[in-house]
Amino acid sequence: MITISKNAVEAYLEQRKESGPVCAYVYDLDHLKQHAETIKQSLPAFCELYYAVKANPDLELLSTLEPIVDGFEVASIGEINKIDGISKKPMLFGGPAKKDHEMLEAMERNVDYVNVESLHELNRMAYLAQQEQVKLPVLLRVNLSTNVSDSHIRMSGVPTQFGIDERDVPNVIVKALSYEKIEIKGFHFHAMSNNLDAAAHLRFVEMCMKKARSWRKEFALEAPIIDIGGGIGINYWDTSNPFDWDTLARELKEFEQETIDENLTLFLEIGRYMTAGCGSYVSEVLDVKTNHGEHFAVLRGGSHHLRLPAAWKMSHPFRVHSVEGWKYPFERPGIKDAEVTVAGELCTPNDVLVGKEFVSELRAGDIMVFEYAGAYGWTISHHDFLSHPHPEQVYVMNGLVYIR
Ligand SMILES: Cc1ncc(COP(=O)(O)O)c(C=O)c1O
Repeated sequence: MITISKNAVEAYLEQRKESGPVCAYVYDLDHLKQHAETIKQSLPAFCELYYAVKANPDLELLSTLEPIVDGFEVASIGEINKIDGISKKPMLFGGPAKKDHEMLEAMERNVDYVNVESLHELNRMAYLAQQEQVKLPVLLRVNLSTNVSDSHIRMSGVPTQFGIDERDVPNVIVKALSYEKIEIKGFHFHAMSNNLDAAAHLRFVEMCMKKARSWRKEFALEAPIIDIGGGIGINYWDTSNPFDWDTLARELKEFEQETIDENLTLFLEIGRYMTAGCGSYVSEVLDVKTNHGEHFAVLRGGSHHLRLPAAWKMSHPFRVHSVEGWKYPFERPGIKDAEVTVAGELCTPNDVLVGKEFVSELRAGDIMVFEYAGAYGWTISHHDFLSHPHPEQVYVMNGLVYIR
């Protein structure tokens, strides 16, 4: 179970030297290391743990994860460069819109696996691999015909731009086998985002294994890799009721003997579940006011730093760090035992991080701590809208606070 370390934020606030309102991402690297090690140790030997860099490509986080994970899922040359700089571990290059120059660079860098997202992409890869005289190890990314879960966002089992329609996979296999410079290493099934149901995830794994087996058999393929992608969720709506990782890990062990017998390896490419819990976004309340009978707190920060709640139209989990000092000679605005909407510093009513949630007390000068902000937080946000200064990036490790 993910637990959030409160101490990293408090350690930063104690040591903070900058004047002006607080605005920072605080990453607890001890927490990340421990969480990643727990995930890795809980997985059976036939599973390989990849980190999906897109969830948070911060170099401090990548360096913390590097000794623990088996490899990295990358989706651009920028991500390949980051991993190249810190690791010799395998890279798997995915993404639905690969450019020729990206594929060529992936070949040059000996990226270990490349996802094939369509027949046309396969043809282009084969063409370029032939030109370069390299054999390209590929995973065929499948868009399954069946819907697999109630997860927040689905990439597969529904019409999307991702992967090869399951019904077309046999034709693509035939084509791939006709290319001398293409080697089918397996199948890639990443299908969902923020799934909160461990039982549904297991059903999905079973389905992936069944499909991969049938194609291996039909075409006498070795293809030892079944990549089930990521998609393990964070329960932002009720953090006391998290995804049941222990059940998933325990039940995966049930597949151990058959996978050994069949020489199969399961890849997991985990993003959100890996890094969400190590990061908090902290932002000072500048004002508390009442409009049309509703209470609003306004922050030095907002959705340009943490876009996720606005994008998903949800309240981000938070706690209030109370600050007792008040520097002005006039009244301190605040509310008690009331619902509040927490907005940011942008000039749009969409800049909301929390909508009508209860607080026992919230005053100007207090600090809002948005937990579970370590994945798809800073990296997916529109940082420069309105040209406000960026938040500090803060790392806490062994009780030491580093500020960038
Ligand atoms: C191909 C692929 N693998 C893995 C992931 C990571 O997913 P998550 O962060 O839900 O674990 C993503 C996220 O979009 C992805 O596109």
